[in-house]
Amino acid sequence: MSEFDETVATEDIESEPFQHLSLVVDDEGIAWLAVDRPKALNALNSEVVDELRDAVVELVTYEDVHAIVITGAGDKAFVAGADISEFNSLDPMEARELSRNGQDMLATIESSPVPVIAMINGFALGGGLELALACHLRVASDKALLGLPEVSLGLIPGFGGTQRLSRLASPGIAREWVLTGEHVTAAEAYRVGVVNRLASDEELREVTTKLVQTIIKRGPIAVASALEVIRRGLEVGQSEGENLEADAFGLLFATADQKEGAAAFLEKRKPEFQGR
Ligand code: CAA
Repeated sequence: MSEFDETVATEDIESEPFQHLSLVVDDEGIAWLAVDRPKALNALNSEVVDELRDAVVELVTYEDVHAIVITGAGDKAFVAGADISEFNSLDPMEARELSRNGQDMLATIESSPVPVIAMINGFALGGGLELALACHLRVASDKALLGLPEVSLGLIPGFGGTQRLSRLASPGIAREWVLTGEHVTAAEAYRVGVVNRLASDEELREVTTKLVQTIIKRGPIAVASALEVIRRGLEVGQSEGENLEADAFGLLFATADQKEGAAAFLEKRKPEFQGR
């Protein structure tokens, strides 16, 4: 039973019920999506991977969903990695496919036009940390432990971790975390920029909510545009990235929200963005 099952129902979301996820959309339009396999520390088996992709693809189609928070059910783990019990039967091609499928799901999350925040409430290991790295921002409980322990299994991270951790922190941090496979405290992850906000266990949800509330007050088209330019900019060189930025900046002048933002500033009032 996840903590979210008892809160507001998702009346407007007509998704098929998920087997391994719990979903609640609150009245501020924040979708709280929890991986819900606490007995297996929320490990990502292939069904969870597919459900996460389906959930995000569907949630972003709803105008009333302004942000997605991904977390783990129970009080112990965010997600303790890919489900190791699925590994034994895999031949190399199947293992490659498992990696590709996970990468693809995480690329879907990273490409979401609405902000996706990882609320790291416990162990975020292997594929679990990789899930958090694909989210746009990370808030962690100071009790959480993070890491990429795959080398302890004779493996390397396979859901984009080798690439995203290098880009988000540094190649040095990525090498250290990947090669040692050690658990890293949330405080250390915060120090190296992997975690955006740290909170006590008790305040984790509140700190996450405040961060999300701040973002969803801003112009939603501008937020989506910023997410896209930053993401695509990481794939290209500086001058091409600045081209993307200038094009997106220009395009925003076609939106009512841009006019509203400037007018509200000049009239010394709060903007009322319409997402148009
Ligand atoms: N896959 C499958 N089951 C897992 C799991 C995982 N990644 N992590 C935990 N579980 C299961 C355990 O097998 C155990 O199940 P049973 O009760 O049926 O025995 C249950 O969850 C509870 O786990 P523990 O008893 O081990 O709990 P603990 O408190 O002693 O240890 C832990 C917690 C340190 C997180 C430990 O469970 C652990 O090291 N888990 C594996 C972490 C890991 O190696 N993750 C990387 C996976 S590989 C990967 O992710 C590849 C990739 O990049 C795509």
